Amino acid sequence: MQELTKITPTDYDVIDVIKTRWSPRAFDDVPVSESEVKQLLEAGRWASSSYNQQPWRIIYGIKGDAVYDRILACLIPFNQDWATHAPVLMVTAYKKTNFDGDAYFHALHDLGLFMGNLVIQANHNGIAVHQMGGIDQEKAHQEFEFTSDFGIATAVAIGRYGGDPDQLSDDLKEQELEKMRERKPVDAFAFNGNFQSK
Ligand SMILES: Cc1cc2nc3c(=O)[nH]c(=O)nc-3n(C[C@H](O)[C@H](O)[C@H](O)COP(=O)(O)O)c2cc1C
Repeated sequence: MQELTKITPTDYDVIDVIKTRWSPRAFDDVPVSESEVKQLLEAGRWASSSYNQQPWRIIYGIKGDAVYDRILACLIPFNQDWATHAPVLMVTAYKKTNFDGDAYFHALHDLGLFMGNLVIQANHNGIAVHQMGGIDQEKAHQEFEFTSDFGIATAVAIGRYGGDPDQLSDDLKEQELEKMRERKPVDAFAFNGNFQSK
């Protein structure tokens, strides 16, 4: 299968590993090994976090194992439909309390940095990552026996680029084949002065 690539129209040049990343819903059939998964988690491990508290917790399953099926069962049906073909699934969670026992305001922020590292390492390795907010958080919390000081954030589908878009429903196939990636311009969200409502 010819690997799909996207056009990322940057206004300022950025490194290729950022530019070429995108979130496919169809993945190549070639499996992703547990050591490849561990390497991605290692990249996440070295993210910075508030007071180095490392609030992230990850459940991972590899297609064929029981954990994979348990994660899949926690996804909303929309995501189950396509993510069922992904070689690896994850659930991400974060610690809700800090070292003082108070609310850990930056925990989700820190989990985001973890995922940022993971995604960039993955893309460097030719591995694609599709993050999902569409997970039944309560169900995943119970299913994986998280304690009450943890919250579920997302699910993640991981596999190699080069999946066959024909395995997707018509509307998802259309999105998959969309050539152009889009973002707001930098000036719409970054201000050398007061906040501007744009
Ligand atoms: C926190 C988060 C939640 C997301 N939730 C879903 C989801 O439930 N289902 C889905 O198909 N895509 C989901 N996405 C993927 C986004 O739609 C996608 O990243 C966005 O459109 C930008 O596309 P790109 O990653 O290819 O640049 C999510 C992404 C993030 C970061």
